[in-house]
Amino acid sequence: MIYLDNHATTRLDPRVLETMLPWLTDRYGNAGSVTHELGREARVKVDASREVFAAAIGARANEIVFTSGATESANLAILGTASRIRGRTEGISRGHVITIATEHHAILDPIEHLEREGFAVTRLPVVGQDDPGVPGRIRLADLDAALRPDTFLVSVLLANNEIGVVQEVAAIADRVHAEGAMLHVDSAQALGRMKVDVDAIGADLASFSGHKFHGPKGVGALYVRRRGRAVRVDPLVFGGGQERGMRSGTLDVPAIVGLAEAARLANEGLAEEGPQMRRLRDRLWEALVDTVPDVAINGPAIDADDGGRAAVRLVNNLNVHIPGVDGQSLLATLSGEGLAVSSGSACSSESPRPSHVLLALGLSEDQARASLRFGLSRFTTENEVDEAARRIAAGVAGLRAI
Ligand SMILES: Cc1ncc(COP(=O)(O)O)c(C=O)c1O
Repeated sequence: MIYLDNHATTRLDPRVLETMLPWLTDRYGNAGSVTHELGREARVKVDASREVFAAAIGARANEIVFTSGATESANLAILGTASRIRGRTEGISRGHVITIATEHHAILDPIEHLEREGFAVTRLPVVGQDDPGVPGRIRLADLDAALRPDTFLVSVLLANNEIGVVQEVAAIADRVHAEGAMLHVDSAQALGRMKVDVDAIGADLASFSGHKFHGPKGVGALYVRRRGRAVRVDPLVFGGGQERGMRSGTLDVPAIVGLAEAARLANEGLAEEGPQMRRLRDRLWEALVDTVPDVAINGPAIDADDGGRAAVRLVNNLNVHIPGVDGQSLLATLSGEGLAVSSGSACSSESPRPSHVLLALGLSEDQARASLRFGLSRFTTENEVDEAARRIAAGVAGLRAI
């Protein structure tokens, strides 16, 4: 099996597992039970893990709320801020939220829920594949036009999970703050693939997920700014008052330990692993260009840069469409060949609908279905990339011959 589906999830790094094991076995105390040693050592470890995770994203420990993953973090950010302004806004709208049409469903769906409750919503379009500019990025002028006095929240993806496009988040933050609104940044795909510093990007809230950077599944974090423009969120889950009341429930100590270690390793390894993933990703693209006639890229050009200011495309991402083949047959063929790739996000790959991200870029439904998303990781090798390209070229040739 060649695994190139690292936007869906990543392999647990053995070094992360190592740090988790004691907390899954002998050291099983409840971090809330500070009346005895087992509980106290768990509490100390959670506190230390909070420091480590916070440092990895440029935050302070008291700005981190541990959650079950980026879906929960985003729901808490969106519904938890909306809950605080509920009923306070005059007029028909109960408040206004802005997001991007190409966001993950962990953002789009809670926002749609708010819309049903009477909030106003703007979903910004993105630059199309053949338009001037960077495909997949929003136009800042569209954001300027959308911001209104009752806008309380803008939610943007730092890096898209399908086409890897990196938004101009710092510039977005300036505009959002000038209007007095808060910025939530879904950073699930970014850690370990680019530097993430919540201050540098101007995030007030930011969502993270352990399993996207070689940590365990079912754990994540929400960054909630306390310095400067302090942000407050109402809880979605009530109970024992853990996480300063923002997220009740007994803490999953081993998972939190793993999350922190995975974030630390992601930062520590980035200088070496970033260029390595980029080189292999470029090699994969060049091999496909050489062996798959008419293959075309979805999203920003592979060598797109921003005049050195920021990344434009995640170093580990490639997304292509392959004209003249049926998408489902292609995926089935590649899966039969032992290649793990996808045509869209994992959450939507069970539904036959084409990717909303690719449609927003202006691709047709057939083009979107006949698209492949690749995500490389620190564990991807040159041999795997070469072999993957060979299997794709053979699979496409076979399907086109039918
Ligand atoms: C951009 C983005 N946001 C949110 C999520 C949801 O994360 P989780 O699996 O931790 O709930 C994902 C993962 O699928 C993602 O790629």
